[in-house]
Amino acid sequence: MAQVVINGLTGYLILTGNLSIGVFFSIGNFASLIFSELVVLNQNTTMIQSAKDLNNKLLVELKPVNNKENGQNNIANFAKLSIVKLQEHFSNGEVVSYPDITIKSGEKILLSGDSGTGKSTLFKLILGELKPTEGKIIFKDKNGQQIHPDLAKIGCIPQDPTLFPGTIKENITMFNNKLDGEAEEVAKKMQLGTDLKKCLMA
Ligand SMILES: Nc1ncnc2c1ncn2[C@@H]1O[C@H](COP(=O)(O)OP(=O)(O)OP(=O)(O)O)[C@@H](O)[C@H]1O
Ligand SMILES: [Mg+2]
Repeated sequence: MAQVVINGLTGYLILTGNLSIGVFFSIGNFASLIFSELVVLNQNTTMIQSAKDLNNKLLVELKPVNNKENGQNNIANFAKLSIVKLQEHFSNGEVVSYPDITIKSGEKILLSGDSGTGKSTLFKLILGELKPTEGKIIFKDKNGQQIHPDLAKIGCIPQDPTLFPGTIKENITMFNNKLDGEAEEVAKKMQLGTDLKKCLMA
């Protein structure tokens, strides 16, 4: 609208003999440049404003989770794991139920059962990969207080291991180059030395 007004005024001044045609084109170009930039500015401001709510929500979501690593929630304080009335219901209607179990720190447990009875599912529940549909998995410290340890600190070698498309070393270091120097020693400790030698010879 402002651009039309400016062009109109310039046209009027030319018709009344106060301006030359050249000035008309210069002013037209100048006005067009200024107003097209203003349109871009307006569009970007609208985009920023409309993303404000989403950005605020993201800022809340991205706040680091406080695992209270040094407090009572440290996995090092773990003393007892209790499985209470635990059930997992899958979307296809399959239901896996568990007896109540208590496992003390340092205990070695053999979990056995026919295929499909829910052994892997129990590990997924303990590791937090699955949320129990019913019942609870409770971690306690030596004082019997419930703790909420960082479940990512629990080691687990799964039944179906994942291998990355890379070298054996990269699979051990998970592509962290800083650990390259330690890979061979770790492989030996894990009794992989003989197998690695066979690979190198093949
Ligand atoms: N994602 C899923 N969706 C539906 N059903 C599932 C799912 N995962 C597991 N199940 C069902 O839950 C039951 C327990 O499976 P799980 O893999 O835990 O058994 P398992 O004891 O580890 O068996 P295996 O000895 O063969 O490893 C099975 O009947 C399986 O079909
Ligand atoms: Mg299994």
